[in-house]
Amino acid sequence: MKTLILNGSPRKNGDTVQLIELFREKSGFDCTVFPVCEKKIAPCTDCRFCHTHPSCALRDDMEEFWRELSDAELILLASPIYFGQPSPQLLSWASRLQYAFVSERIRKDPDFSVGKRQGALLFAAGGGTKNPKPAIQTGKEILRFCGADYIGTAAAMNTDRIPVEQDLQAKKSVEALVQLLLSSAK
Ligand SMILES: Cc1cc2nc3c(=O)[nH]c(=O)nc-3n(C[C@H](O)[C@H](O)[C@H](O)COP(=O)(O)O)c2cc1C
Repeated sequence: MKTLILNGSPRKNGDTVQLIELFREKSGFDCTVFPVCEKKIAPCTDCRFCHTHPSCALRDDMEEFWRELSDAELILLASPIYFGQPSPQLLSWASRLQYAFVSERIRKDPDFSVGKRQGALLFAAGGGTKNPKPAIQTGKEILRFCGADYIGTAAAMNTDRIPVEQDLQAKKSVEALVQLLLSSAK
């Protein structure tokens, strides 16, 4: 399955990257990682240029994201949890999805479609968050803006105590997510 993974962690070899590697290994999917923190993507300023033009006023690496998204069958949002939510870097990137919403719903552009695909979430958390429900809720909302149907979440919730590669619960949750994705793709 052609998979686009948005990595919202600023840590180059951190827990989220390990979780992504686990997902790659367990799924065997054709994965492309889009490292949000290494890209030049400014947050949406709600300037509303896109309400009247078929483009965004901000010209930056978001254009690369739209190209990558176009043929993705699955989009995976991968992020550390900060204050119970996906990282601010991921949320800042996500603000730019407003262009898709405006093109489809406000400008009603017949030449624009965000497309349809599956969506899933991967979270790394340092133990403080016992219930990732608020982060999942936010992730689902972002996936909707990417034209993705939410399938499920996998997480490593105790990275303060257990490295991802030794975390059996995290491994099981990644395996379960892969099974869910495979069965809902049929
Ligand atoms: C600013 C900040 C806020 C954090 N907030 C939470 C939190 O609310 N809950 C939690 O369980 N861990 C929290 N953490 C810990 C990270 O989620 C955890 O270390 C995670 O595994 C880091 O992933 P990474 O290595 O991919 O960046 C926070 C870390 C930082 C830097």
